[in-house]
Amino acid sequence: MKNNIMKIAGFTGSLRQGSFNKAALRAARELMPEGAELEIIDLADIPFLNEDAEALGIPGPVEAFKKKLAEADGILIATPEYNYSIPPVLKNALDWASRGKEPPLYGKPLAILSASPGMLGGARAQYHLRQVCVSLNLIPVNKPEVMISSAHTKVSAEGVLEDERALRGIQELLEALILNIRKSQEK
Ligand SMILES: Cc1cc2nc3c(=O)[nH]c(=O)nc-3n(C[C@H](O)[C@H](O)[C@H](O)COP(=O)(O)O)c2cc1C
Repeated sequence: MKNNIMKIAGFTGSLRQGSFNKAALRAARELMPEGAELEIIDLADIPFLNEDAEALGIPGPVEAFKKKLAEADGILIATPEYNYSIPPVLKNALDWASRGKEPPLYGKPLAILSASPGMLGGARAQYHLRQVCVSLNLIPVNKPEVMISSAHTKVSAEGVLEDERALRGIQELLEALILNIRKSQEK
């Protein structure tokens, strides 16, 4: 926490400019409760993890990513669903974050949401992500579950998430995340 402002780091495994998950992250940034702020981190520059290259030094974009995670009080991930799972961009970033002596996500509160044009709103990817969280010891909010289905009908041409139910879900998810952060920092 810096200047009593709770810091949340948010990212998505979509690199797509018109990404529905990016739209959901931007909506979350607007909905952030008072006293908390969301920084959206772009994963586009993070290279594929190769242990040979890693042994020679951590790439700059990975260092920068890990520093932002370390400074955050909590994490928000908006995941697309690719073939019933999380996309490689997200898994790769999480794999990098899991490495080193002090992995920055260890024990950190997390909130997950997903958006998809499909009927299930990325539910299957969320449950795969929860499995990865066990290994990283990321502590996810269980409820509410925010799965934005038919996302193409809920995000405007300008990339604004306009669906009331989805926005309410994101707001409740953020409140639950902040509660978990407060509890984790009381200890
Ligand atoms: C390789 C690939 C696999 C996909 N598999 C699924 C899937 O299993 N379930 C689903 O709901 N959507 C699937 N989609 C569609 C994505 O949900 C859709 O492209 C979505 O817009 C991606 O998220 P974004 O808008 O944040 O980029 C897939 C898309 C790609 C490119």
